[in-house]
Amino acid sequence: MKFFIDTADLKEISEAHALGVLDGVTTNPSLMAKSGITGQQNILAHYVKICEMVEGDVSAEVIATDFAGMVREGEMLSELHPNIVVKVPMIADGVKALKYFSGKGIRTNCTLVFSAGQAILAAKAGASMVSPFMGRIDDTNWDGVSLIEQIVGIYGNYGFATEVLAASIRSSLHIVQCAEVGADIVTCPLSSITGLLKHPLTDVGLEKFLADYRKGNPV
Ligand code: E4P
Repeated sequence: MKFFIDTADLKEISEAHALGVLDGVTTNPSLMAKSGITGQQNILAHYVKICEMVEGDVSAEVIATDFAGMVREGEMLSELHPNIVVKVPMIADGVKALKYFSGKGIRTNCTLVFSAGQAILAAKAGASMVSPFMGRIDDTNWDGVSLIEQIVGIYGNYGFATEVLAASIRSSLHIVQCAEVGADIVTCPLSSITGLLKHPLTDVGLEKFLADYRKGNPV
């Protein structure tokens, strides 16, 4: 399972990268705004900076919502760096754009997916990745991980090449649940990745090992 970080914050990207387990980055317009990156030129320059920091896919989202605009923007984004994956929303013109980009060999991530039906459409249109937002589904008191499992099963039935990228991850437990149901990729906040490190018995065990070592090897 690939690990992407879901942020536009360069410090967080660098921290996750330093752990040695980072396979890519996803961003969206809200994450860009949260990091204070505004204005098209600044946003484009920021994508390039991210691509230069991480060896792996970097999702860059189109702002246009009409087919011609998405094609124009997506082509421009894909020319920024070979690792750019064009993020396209799950709307009718988005599906047409996914099909267009797939024919041109431009890799895509279909975003804002909340149902198995939407995921089937994205795969039929040739999306490289599909992003079901499991955390936002959990927020509505429904079951996000069941949707991931359902999509993984359906894609398996037909051998779709589209990768299931579990998005809107809220916790380390979500990452483990995604691994259990066979998600190809998880995109997570830094805290969910570093949360995987933590177990109280690890800390207690390490403290005891070091204390015992110090007893036999006083300074
Ligand atoms: C990822 O590609 C999505 O943009 C992201 O995971 C959304 O997460 P959120 O629900 O925490 O905003």
